[in-house]
Amino acid sequence: MNILVVGGGGREHAIIRALKKNPTVETIWALPGNGGIAADATCVPIGATDIDGIVSFARENPVDYAVVAPDDPLVLGCVDRLNEIGIPCFGPKANAAIIEGSKAFAKNLMKKYAIPTAAYQVFTDQAEALAYLEDAPIPTVVKADGLALGKGVIIARTRQEARDAVTDMMSGGKFGASGATVVIEEFLEGPEVSVLAFTDGKVIRPMVSSMDHKRAGDGDTGLNTGGMGAIAPNPFYTEEVARRCREEIFLPTIRAMKKEGRPFQGCLYFGLMLTKDGPKVIEYNCRFGDPETQVVLPLMKSDLLTVMLACTNGTLAKTPVRFSKKHACCVIKASKGYPEHYKKGYRLTMSPRAAAATYVAGAKLVDGKLVTSGGRVTGTTAVRSTLAEAVAAAYRLSAGVKFANAYCRADIGRRALEAEK
Ligand code: AMP
Ligand code: GLY
Repeated sequence: MNILVVGGGGREHAIIRALKKNPTVETIWALPGNGGIAADATCVPIGATDIDGIVSFARENPVDYAVVAPDDPLVLGCVDRLNEIGIPCFGPKANAAIIEGSKAFAKNLMKKYAIPTAAYQVFTDQAEALAYLEDAPIPTVVKADGLALGKGVIIARTRQEARDAVTDMMSGGKFGASGATVVIEEFLEGPEVSVLAFTDGKVIRPMVSSMDHKRAGDGDTGLNTGGMGAIAPNPFYTEEVARRCREEIFLPTIRAMKKEGRPFQGCLYFGLMLTKDGPKVIEYNCRFGDPETQVVLPLMKSDLLTVMLACTNGTLAKTPVRFSKKHACCVIKASKGYPEHYKKGYRLTMSPRAAAATYVAGAKLVDGKLVTSGGRVTGTTAVRSTLAEAVAAAYRLSAGVKFANAYCRADIGRRALEAEK
């Protein structure tokens, strides 16, 4: 089988490595892939949002199946377009990807189907949004409606911060069209859990739970990033919490999407907050999470391609999805200054042991050698019997990943280890 994978980050690298374990896989093309992915797939310089380019490539090459991994091509209808030329895909069509593409859509869906989430209001008029803020409880959360590279969420600790966020989004042009509509929602507190789930639109099979580490600095301080590390499973996600999430959130969401005529097929990501009133949805993503995928897929015992095909074909009910009982930890190495100002172009080297455990997020090949090409550069994952061992091993292995001005958080997994006690 020849597979086309759309995307080019650490998540896609983890997906490609897992797909390669299936002996029927012959060729994997990554569009665009990256310098590190090139060791595991054939990279083709077509951008993940160049839908016409992706469709042309698929027409001209013997592609049997496509995995569309990032949010933007999904929201732009990449799956719809590939289906039109007869290529089956893993990933939702645009009418279902909207669950991530529009926060207003997601919030309205949850309200309509009584799925627990933060209380909220949607605004398209700036004056109304500002007027609402005058007596809104503080802290409050201001979100740009559309995709904003994870940067469209402001936790406002004061009323003035909330006003500034609304003004920036609605007239500052900072988020373009994504900010024309804003959602203002209740500030929730509690541990966060990520749950990725396979679904064929009818049946949903949650994967092992995980925990992202979104802030740039140790102790969850500093700016929000694309994720500085992850661990799985998440110790806050007990059996009892899992049961409630399944009944109150996962199944109702899948049923709601089906009922709305937007059946969701692919990986649905639930960003959950475990509040004192029970689990609530912080966000839905229409895809695998990054860096959660880099800890979840290494724990998967079932064959990824078989499960993906079952999602596409609507046969997930009779396809087992199994995970190991072990623990995984992924440590991200980024360029100093990320997520704001950082340099690219540093030579990246990895010892053979480190390379085997590392997914490359931001590097390209120049004259056959890897150089950094992004803020987040690598993610190194270790799987061990205990979380403490996985954390220690991930740090040990990542010491074999080297580039100038590299930095990583020193405390990935610490919160989870404390929770285990
Ligand atoms: P999102 O881009 O929606 O994942 O939001 C980014 C981060 O902001 C989340 O991971 C949470 O830590 C935080 N966040 C989002 N919504 C809320 C909320 N209603 N209350 C508290 N924190 C939130
Ligand atoms: N780790 C959060 C995300 O993928 O959006």
